Amino acid sequence: MRLTPVFSLTIFLLLITGPLGADDGYRLWLRYDEIADSPLRKSYAKALPRVFREGDSPQLCAAEEELLLGLSGLLGHGVESTAAAPAKGLILGVLGRSTSLDGLLSAEEQASLPDGGYALIGQGKQFYIAGKDDRGALYGAFAFLRYLQRGRPLDDLHLLDGPRVKNRLLNHWDNLDGTVERGYAGFSIWNWHQLPHYLDPRYTDYARANASIGINGAVVTNVNAKAIVFRRDYLQKAAALAEVFRPYGIRIYLTARFSAPIELGGLPTADPEDAAVKKWWQDKASEIYALIPDFGGFVVKANSEGQPGPREYGRTHAQGANLLADALAPHGGIVMWRAFVYSNEEPVDRAKQAYDEFVPLDGKFRDNVMVQVKNGPIDFQPREPVHPLFGSMPHTPLAMEFQITKEYLGQGTHLVGLGKMYEEVLQTDTYAEGPGTRVADIIDGSAYGDDRLTAMAGVANIGTARNWTGNLFGQADWYTFGRLAWNPTGKAEDYFREWSQMTFPNSPTVQETAQNLLAVSHEACVNYMTPLGLHHIMGPDHHYGPGPWIKDMPRADWTSVYYHKADAEGVGFDRTKTGSDALEQYTSRFAARYESPDSCPPAFLLWYHHLPWDHKLPSGNTLWAELCYSYHAGATKVGEMLKNWKSLSGRLDQERYESVRMHLEIQEKEAKWWRDACLAYFQSFSGMPVPAELEKPTHSLEYYEGLTFPYAPGIKAKW
Ligand code: GCU
Repeated sequence: MRLTPVFSLTIFLLLITGPLGADDGYRLWLRYDEIADSPLRKSYAKALPRVFREGDSPQLCAAEEELLLGLSGLLGHGVESTAAAPAKGLILGVLGRSTSLDGLLSAEEQASLPDGGYALIGQGKQFYIAGKDDRGALYGAFAFLRYLQRGRPLDDLHLLDGPRVKNRLLNHWDNLDGTVERGYAGFSIWNWHQLPHYLDPRYTDYARANASIGINGAVVTNVNAKAIVFRRDYLQKAAALAEVFRPYGIRIYLTARFSAPIELGGLPTADPEDAAVKKWWQDKASEIYALIPDFGGFVVKANSEGQPGPREYGRTHAQGANLLADALAPHGGIVMWRAFVYSNEEPVDRAKQAYDEFVPLDGKFRDNVMVQVKNGPIDFQPREPVHPLFGSMPHTPLAMEFQITKEYLGQGTHLVGLGKMYEEVLQTDTYAEGPGTRVADIIDGSAYGDDRLTAMAGVANIGTARNWTGNLFGQADWYTFGRLAWNPTGKAEDYFREWSQMTFPNSPTVQETAQNLLAVSHEACVNYMTPLGLHHIMGPDHHYGPGPWIKDMPRADWTSVYYHKADAEGVGFDRTKTGSDALEQYTSRFAARYESPDSCPPAFLLWYHHLPWDHKLPSGNTLWAELCYSYHAGATKVGEMLKNWKSLSGRLDQERYESVRMHLEIQEKEAKWWRDACLAYFQSFSGMPVPAELEKPTHSLEYYEGLTFPYAPGIKAKW
């Protein structure tokens, strides 16, 4: 038989896109492909499930739609939507705030559910997804699907869950021109030019993905803000996004430029105590809420890295924040005021400055203000001790700010399971309200036992890349962040498992390998970049690659030498009493562990101590030798990661396999580059040999210092 061109094309496509063919990763963890051998398939393969919902809110409709999509995919056949609860058969009910849950949950159980909470109840072939409110029902629908996707047994299903943190936000550092500050996954997904008329379907998929992990707020503009976003046409664009987000329980937030009353309003000042300035913000807030009734509020970076702020008028950060808070309060909005401030004029250790500035303001902020604090006192380094503000402002709600985009952890290419780092921070005991006051307890408010505002924000790693995050495993960072924002006391490895099971549903081997890569990679990255407490030794501006030699920058605290202080005697930043005494900003119980180099955990040794190169460590090695072994251990681990991934060839679709393989190959090369460049540099001070059994740096120090990356993402155009 002679094949027509159409037939031959079809056969060709079938051959190359069979089960192990192409998969671009666009569907994230919401794949809903049929899963061989799942309890759902075994018990209900032939049943026609019927889905009904009680209530008509946009969130309940979105929940039902997702269930129809998910179930039909997972079962491989149709699912019916019915108007009322059928008496028998495989039934799924979505119950929102207007339904009584008395028959399903005890009074105590109902009372235990927080806003946004849900229950999943199975009674034979009937399953109920019951929300404390409609948003809770939506989260319940996603949780039920997650349950099915992971092949969990359905018998006697009785599961209650709810968020421990009220505001769970993504912060997009996206500029209105479409670029993304510290973005490594393409351009911004927000097409401001075509909004509000063109609504990219991606906006809906973005909202679905976020709702599936409980994210309920999106700050869509960069913290380095532009006033123009408050111009009416831009507010209309934001309103169009808010409408897409609403059914998925996501509120939109904007970043506020403090000088907007001058730049946009034509006022001579932005002084927070000026009556005309107050009125300008009040009018602006009313205008915003008329367009976006559920607008979340403002995120503000003020008096930081050149951004305008209240300090220019001799006012405090509290006065600045309260100005905006008063404007938002009548409408129910909040202010997230960032504590990422440090000043060039201050001779004080940069790690101490935010604390010095903010602690005296504790209790002076309005009730609808949160102070948003980065996880560590410098700036999203591969590893930092927790920020001293956590636990030090008991009368001010503090929001956690994590970075999901990997500005300092290998950017677009390195696989680094950030969940481990988040967990390390959240589980750290500050002793602030007595032993056992973990950062997680401060963030979710339980340390204080009041009903305060709570929040966790993650700087997004999303862009126009077809798979959203560029590096496939960046999806796991987004996922894990969302799950930990929902429950900051959760365990990263549980979320790695969930993500792996949903992302690679048909292969336990791939799932196990993926989980393992996520579990070991953060420690590996710290070792090949900044072991033993080193920090801020990356390339300038773009922050790509190693740059421990960086010393000529506009500000001393943008250099590397400011932080490592290497000389012929030794290396490290003395932050004990003999040095900057940054440790004094923590509780004495916390500080006690770090004060002496003998008790200081090796992971933070050079963060707190300047030590001689031949200082003996508990391992028996000198500091210099330990540095060499750590750098080598990190790079060697990446080699193993690559080997493990390669063992999966043929076990998953070629497209995702290859994309991860290529990124890991880059990571392996770059891990060696970090190792060799840093050891060559530090050896020029220590003068000690690299232990005989270890490979020596491939090139001279001059070679590494001479490398330039004119087009690395993030560099300001100079070339
Ligand atoms: C880092 C980052 C900047 C960002 C800043 C911030 O310094 O490099 O791009 O603007 O953090 O968090 O405000």
